[in-house]
Amino acid sequence: IDNNIVIAIDGPAGAGKSTVAKQVSRILNINYIDTGAMYRAITFKCIKNGLDLEDEKSVVDLCKNTDLKFENNSIFIDGQCVDDDIRTLQVSSKVSYVARIPGVRFYLVELQREMGKGDNVVLDGRDVGTQIFPNTKYKYYLNAAVETRAKRRYDELILKGVKASFEAIVEDVRNRDKIDSTRVVSPLIKASDAIEIDSTNMTIEEVVDFIVNDVRGK
Ligand code: CDP
Ligand code: CDP
Repeated sequence: IDNNIVIAIDGPAGAGKSTVAKQVSRILNINYIDTGAMYRAITFKCIKNGLDLEDEKSVVDLCKNTDLKFENNSIFIDGQCVDDDIRTLQVSSKVSYVARIPGVRFYLVELQREMGKGDNVVLDGRDVGTQIFPNTKYKYYLNAAVETRAKRRYDELILKGVKASFEAIVEDVRNRDKIDSTRVVSPLIKASDAIEIDSTNMTIEEVVDFIVNDVRGK
């Protein structure tokens, strides 16, 4: 593969982005950045600090006073690993409200560009191909039917032994899709030059193979 390649994997919740991106990063031996985890980490800290999420200025100020980094694919906020804390339904149900604040996006997009530059990298999120790295030629838009996406999330929790309500998960996924797709700043949308992959009836391996072969072939 080329040098300094940036692979962008975007799409709605539960489409398989992070699972696929992790495997692509392993196979191609390149860095992986989970941009959604960054919005989740900021949301987690806001909740922990009792911030009013409608108070945009306080949320943006909190961002500016936060040390956010990845180490060995784990996410650290102010030195604390929050891999598990950011995956709760409480954080999921709030994150899209934080992610639509323009100042938050401005701050995190700068950080994501900084983290992604200079090395080969795969990023997954909502706006990697449209906003963070619009000039990359490796863009994929991963999608699947909403019930399939919610079911995958549900199965994941059950497997971990976490009690979950399928109805609550479908509602969370639908609600986030709607807020993410309709926000004013960099909404979730397929970049015109992204390859769309509908994974409803595909295995993880099939999706990974498709992307790896496409990257190698370009
Ligand atoms: O993994 P899942 O699809 O559930 O979500 P995620 O990728 O962890 O992202 C959580 C939320 O962060 C999304 O629902 C968006 O509101 C926001 N997000 C965003 O706005 N822009 C990104 N590049 C990534 C995530
Ligand atoms: O990051 P995103 O929210 O798009 O999805 P994810 O966190 O990777 O979760 C997708 C879940 O669906 C994982 O448990 C995968 O094992 C499973 N899955 C998939 O990602 N792709 C398929 N083609 C089939 C299942």
